[in-house]
Amino acid sequence: MPSTQDSAPASPIHRDIVRIDGPLKVSGRAQYTSDFHFPGLLYAVPVGATIANGKLTGLDTGVAEKMPGVRAILHRGNIGPIYRSTAQPDFGGICEERRPAFEDDAIRYYGQHIAVAVAETFETAKAAADAVRATYSAEKPNVAEHLETDDDPDLVITTFGPRHRLDSHRGDPNGAFAGAPVKLDYTYITPTETHNPLEPHATTAVWDGAISDGPMLTVYESSQGVVNLRTVLAQMFGLPLENVRVITKFVGSGFGDKLFPWTHCPLAAAAARQVGRPVRLVLSRKMMFHTVGNRPRTQQRVRIGATSEGKLLSLQHDYIYQRSMLDAHHEDCGEATPFHYNVPNLRVTFGRAKRNVGAGADMRGPGAVPGLYATESAMNELAYEIQIDPVKLRILNEPKIDEGTGLPFSSRHAVESYELGAEKFGWWKRRPGIGTMKRDGLTLGWGMAGCTWLAGRFAAAANVLLLDDGTVRVACATQDIGTGTYTILAQLASYRTGLPIEKVEVALGDTSLPPGPLSGGSLTTASIVPAVLAAADSAISSLMTVAGATKESPFRGRKPDDLALENGRVFAKADGPANGVPFEDLLHGANVRLVTGDGNAPAMFGDPKAKYSLHSYGCHFVEVTWQPEIARLRVSRVVTVIDAGKILNTLAGRNQIRGGVVMGIGMALLEHTSYDPQNGAPINSSMADYLVAVNADSPPIEVHFLDYPDKEVNELGARGIGEIGKAGIAAAITDAVHHATGVRVRELPVKIEDLL
Ligand code: MOS
Repeated sequence: MPSTQDSAPASPIHRDIVRIDGPLKVSGRAQYTSDFHFPGLLYAVPVGATIANGKLTGLDTGVAEKMPGVRAILHRGNIGPIYRSTAQPDFGGICEERRPAFEDDAIRYYGQHIAVAVAETFETAKAAADAVRATYSAEKPNVAEHLETDDDPDLVITTFGPRHRLDSHRGDPNGAFAGAPVKLDYTYITPTETHNPLEPHATTAVWDGAISDGPMLTVYESSQGVVNLRTVLAQMFGLPLENVRVITKFVGSGFGDKLFPWTHCPLAAAAARQVGRPVRLVLSRKMMFHTVGNRPRTQQRVRIGATSEGKLLSLQHDYIYQRSMLDAHHEDCGEATPFHYNVPNLRVTFGRAKRNVGAGADMRGPGAVPGLYATESAMNELAYEIQIDPVKLRILNEPKIDEGTGLPFSSRHAVESYELGAEKFGWWKRRPGIGTMKRDGLTLGWGMAGCTWLAGRFAAAANVLLLDDGTVRVACATQDIGTGTYTILAQLASYRTGLPIEKVEVALGDTSLPPGPLSGGSLTTASIVPAVLAAADSAISSLMTVAGATKESPFRGRKPDDLALENGRVFAKADGPANGVPFEDLLHGANVRLVTGDGNAPAMFGDPKAKYSLHSYGCHFVEVTWQPEIARLRVSRVVTVIDAGKILNTLAGRNQIRGGVVMGIGMALLEHTSYDPQNGAPINSSMADYLVAVNADSPPIEVHFLDYPDKEVNELGARGIGEIGKAGIAAAITDAVHHATGVRVRELPVKIEDLL
């Protein structure tokens, strides 16, 4: 069993710690992007194209411009220059739609920005945007759901997955498949899904021309990556980096759609530049379906060849995903395929199909989530075909190393997760016959699936201050997207300095702070651990220098290495902590307001010279209830086990996994974006029509962590969580649906019509 005793009770690590930013949120004092007010603030509302393919031939802004309170109707002819940005290594300068707004007259998707109305009030701007008349030469859009590869090999693609895994090949997959006693060949489909964070995308842009070194652009943005956004904006407005500042204090969640900038942000900044006043632009819920990304539709053919006992002989995963006419996004469905099982013959390939839709984007567990839906479903189909328990099938095919790279796993306890999950769920009482399990007049279905998600680190820097009022401040230009990063930063500073969390102040979400990681890839926590600990060590070292060098100090003449800091008190190691002095007293005595320390940690992600395969693992066990009389399907119980290294905040950790499972229920049963074949518009572009899982859809979700520290990632062994909770869950649900109903649904979401 996992051990939990290696943290002392007083340690702020590996405990349930409530959010330090909770009071600010529940009292309404937390400032989200649209909460920042400035004198003279104007409101901007973009105008979106009402065709999805063709050319903008004319724009009549006459009526809109004459409306009282309208300050400008900006379009290609008067917006001023917006340049392209270029990607850099290490996730810099990235946009998922490379073309800036208004660059040409071509229309590639419905809702593409063609103008922006700027006015004294939001209502006036909205009315003016509605009054802009556009004419087009329109062609029929291609939003066909069936996907065939029509690839453009020159396209630059961005992906969270290590690049060398984009295509994978080993052994003789075709030959082994042909000769296998058991063969499966199925295609699984996931629909286009749209991110629906509670807080819509928003920008508040302020130009300050008074700076002597040229104009200064400050952008408040609901962003998962302020550092990248600053790099992009500096390029788009032709400014040195130091003339752009990006601020994101709070984010009403982001599921990948806020990782990289979209066109509305530079549009707001350009509008503010043209009118000479601060501008706020908030997308409507409907616009959220147009210009800020989607998880692209995928079509994945999985072929498995196996022995009659279930040993895998060949695995082929050939997937195609939908892409827009403009984007660089790669939906890396094959990320997990090469390493998740022991199989000597394997092939992963991908293709893309261009459609007149908005750009694809990362969405919680990009690639692996749709990918594992397909491959884990195929494993469950194999288990059913040969009548072996799906848990036993997975254990039978457990790999010893990452066979995709030939590297050892840093820390993999997948089998233990299956065994613990089965025990906690009561899996071994499962009767395999379809529809044979009943409770209270309901038919039960039990299903399971494994899950995995990548691990690693982005580059990160941090600063720690120890102040003469006995507090500590930790600063890092990362973001808290609702996951608990404020709290993790405080825990880390508290852990290293020995000061209680209440004494820690956290600053994040501001590019004037040391550059921090994207809030993405579930890598944030892993990335900030070494940077913050190093910064704290550096600040402590400065404190010891003060303690040893100040006349009034009881430690005068001691070497910094002979001194230690515990629970806020400095003491000589030789004398022990009993004679410690509060560190703030030492600072006071030396007339030092604060000591400061910087820490840096390099990226370890997608490194071709990596020594270990870094991933997290786990599994979901799911119960559904089925009432054929009224065609009612519910997910009634979920047990999830996660092997994600050391969990730093178990409360926030369980919360993240539950959130992933809830989104997975939405993925399996509810979510899909439909496009109108006539005009290419997303049809169900509202929260009434695009269904996500809500509380009423969410059953009790039991979460267990294995808690094996992964010291390859950082000294605390924290790999990070957030996305893995959504991986595999759709396959577990569809397997439970099959167990209850006998219907194998291979196109998500499961519809009631599928089950009748
Ligand atoms: Mo996540 S899709 O990396 O925000």
